[in-house]
Amino acid sequence: MSPEPKVLNNNKIPRHIALIMDGNGRWARQRGEQRLFGHTKGVDAVREVLKAAKSFGVSFLTLYAFSTENWNRPKAEVDALMNLLVDSITNELPELQKQGVKLIVIGDIKGLPVKCQESLRSGMDTTKENKEITLVLALNYSAKWEITECVREISLKVAKKELLVNEITPALISSHLTTRDIPDPELLIRTSGEHRISNFLLWQLAYAEFYFTDTHWPDFGKEELKAAILSYQSRERRFGMVSEQL
Ligand code: FPP
Repeated sequence: MSPEPKVLNNNKIPRHIALIMDGNGRWARQRGEQRLFGHTKGVDAVREVLKAAKSFGVSFLTLYAFSTENWNRPKAEVDALMNLLVDSITNELPELQKQGVKLIVIGDIKGLPVKCQESLRSGMDTTKENKEITLVLALNYSAKWEITECVREISLKVAKKELLVNEITPALISSHLTTRDIPDPELLIRTSGEHRISNFLLWQLAYAEFYFTDTHWPDFGKEELKAAILSYQSRERRFGMVSEQL
């Protein structure tokens, strides 16, 4: 087997990378700290990875920041995470603007605390013309929630005779998901050694390459992102075909 190259092929940069940021709690505990300390350091990693993704030419970076299942965590941690989110958006907004980052949110935004909704809406509005990279925050998101909403919306259109059953195609379904304006991710990264997708982008990841690392999220940075992209670039993506057809 030939050794993996160390230099990124700029012609094969994934357009969209999705990331499950895991391990903040374990990272903090290993240092004798509270879990919140890990989440705070996690924000530093978000900043670094966003910058790195932009420098590599990635167009969309989707971060799983809070799942619908995360409400089951202790209330103090949920409250702290929401405050951290509001503070991060507020503090980072000038830098997002400077870097040309467009912020969008997928998930049930109306289910978030009001001050969270306000800071997210203001962040999205301020950055809506930016074109360098799109940062997609999955907040109060789960794929089963999203697919359920999509099925309801399509069913309603059929019931109102706005849509025929045989007009329901994969493309039509994609156009009713929260990611309707975003291409599917080519690469999914999950940190902290867990090998599952935890209700994240089930439809959109149908043909994504998966990359798992034992590194906890607060330690994930530019070099780690580069290693994930190098691994992605070494894969043969066949989309159900055979090698000779590619
Ligand atoms: C997973 O680690 C992390 C989360 C559920 C929250 C991620 C949030 C941040 C990085 C901070 C806010 C984000 C933004 C975008 C400003 P875990 O708590 O599940 O860790 P563990 O598995 O070790 O317990």
